[in-house]
Amino acid sequence: MKHALLSILLLSSLRLLAADREAPLISNVGARTTISLDGVWNTIVDPYETGLSSRFYENAKPKTKSDLIEYDFDHSPKLRVPGDWNSQRESLLFYEGPMWYQRYFSYQQKAHVRTFLYFGAANYLARVWLNGKRLGEHIGGYTPFNFEVTDQIAEGENSVVVEVDNTRRADGVPSIHTDWWNYGGLTRSVELIEVPETYITDYSIHLAENRHDIMEAWIQFAGAIYRGEATIEIPELGLIQNAEIDPRNGRASARFPVRAPHLWSAENPKLYRVVFSGQGDGVVDEVGFRTIETRATQILLNGKPIFLRGICLHEEAPFRGGRAFSEEDDRTLLTWAKELGANFVRLAHYPHNEAMVRLADQMGLLVWDEVPVYWEMDFQNPSTLENAKAQLRDVIVRDRNRAAVVLWSLSNETPISPARNAFLKSMAEYARQLDDTRLITSASDKAEHPDDQHAALNDPLGEYLDVIGLNEYIGWYGKYRPEDADKMQWAFAYSKPVIISEFGGGAPYGMHGDKDTRFTEEYQANLYQHQIGMLQRIPALAGMTPWILMDFRSPRRTLVGIQDYYNRKGVISDRGQRKQAFYVLQKFYRQKAGEGLTASSAK
Ligand code: GCU
Repeated sequence: MKHALLSILLLSSLRLLAADREAPLISNVGARTTISLDGVWNTIVDPYETGLSSRFYENAKPKTKSDLIEYDFDHSPKLRVPGDWNSQRESLLFYEGPMWYQRYFSYQQKAHVRTFLYFGAANYLARVWLNGKRLGEHIGGYTPFNFEVTDQIAEGENSVVVEVDNTRRADGVPSIHTDWWNYGGLTRSVELIEVPETYITDYSIHLAENRHDIMEAWIQFAGAIYRGEATIEIPELGLIQNAEIDPRNGRASARFPVRAPHLWSAENPKLYRVVFSGQGDGVVDEVGFRTIETRATQILLNGKPIFLRGICLHEEAPFRGGRAFSEEDDRTLLTWAKELGANFVRLAHYPHNEAMVRLADQMGLLVWDEVPVYWEMDFQNPSTLENAKAQLRDVIVRDRNRAAVVLWSLSNETPISPARNAFLKSMAEYARQLDDTRLITSASDKAEHPDDQHAALNDPLGEYLDVIGLNEYIGWYGKYRPEDADKMQWAFAYSKPVIISEFGGGAPYGMHGDKDTRFTEEYQANLYQHQIGMLQRIPALAGMTPWILMDFRSPRRTLVGIQDYYNRKGVISDRGQRKQAFYVLQKFYRQKAGEGLTASSAK
């Protein structure tokens, strides 16, 4: 009896798995033929997840007056996609749980065309059905995923149903506790992608290590592969490079000399039109070329030391609040960073939308891209590691051709333990396997103070990293006052470049008082003054990203009249008002930029 039950269970899960049509991520969807499914969707809030047993995914209608159907998408409330549900409806601000989305769309099938259903992101778990048939499920709220629907999609009217559940889980990535709002929903665009039967799923092109006149590239094909060549073209450089496609794995790769391109930098974010083609498919992308490396405690961009004048930001929409998703949201945030004098942004604590990274490429801002391995996590759990690796893989596939992205960050403020160290070691190895052209980092907050004049970071995590990230809150958390930073001497266990990846203090815009009064702009500005002084005395300092560009929603910030569910550590309010600290930092960055210019012109 027990065996029979086990095999039934196994079978049904295998059947379930077999039905899972999640396909390898198609990169650069923006350059593909797509049909947008954005807009208004029917939705059902389902706190007890009755929709699974009631088969909401069938979108059934009563056939006779006595039929019992206890849901009706057509007459249910609506939500906009892309968009989180929390900021769209007052009653959903704190809602965490299952939400059902449904919409109709009509489609015309085309010969020799494969069709994929693509999601820019859905927080956190998404189960997807097309015309009542299950396509599969995806876990992870900040990276794209797609399902092949060539055989499922119907000529004419179709109905797609998505259950999105943002319930926090102990084995999740992130886990239960975060200091940002757990915005749920179809938070980024949904679209149909059309590609030829044999198509390009992914590709990569970059300058070879420490060379400005040699490039390495590959193109990955999917579908029936026939003998032949693929081609990489950079018209502006007069380059047409062919590469033999290996029919065993559908990959074509080449290493080839090239007329040295204008190198991408924050001051000169030069992008080149690159055409990848072969097997009847072709994709065009805008790519910058630069080299990034470390030398002792320096970070070198294009072979020259660079100081990363940075700022952290969350993917919070300016002015309206909610998960940012549009190019307009992103441009506002990155323009503020530029106005600050920044040449670098830390996109915390999860992959932000693709437009944000592409804009950084165009606007000239180097990027720290991070996966949400955050605070306490179930580091012992193999499926948690698989989940974290899948998110890392998907952000690397999505952003690997962005010159702006120079750092992959594996985690933030995770507690030191053998399980955690092993978890992050495995993540670091995986990141290098997927992309050995960028620097690996993580943010640690595990500094120790042997006495009131000394601080040291000995986190063993540093072993696996190229760049050490340190979060320290001297002057805000703990016993030290802002002025105590003046005496603090820092030491680091690893002689590697250090980025102070967080420091800061909270102040709602317009709250004023003397510099010793918490939550005043004067306190925050004073803290920045002393921090800047302290950081400049760290020999291995290669950059900094104060916490944070703009105030953002957090369920942990409950101080009424001051926080009101916002973390107020922004140097800009959520309404775009610059606080005093904004100008303290801007002044320092302008001075630093000036020094940078003289240094590079001195060379
Ligand atoms: C931490 C953490 C952030 C958090 C910040 C704060 O360091 O990394 O996610 O928002 O501190 O306390 O404001």
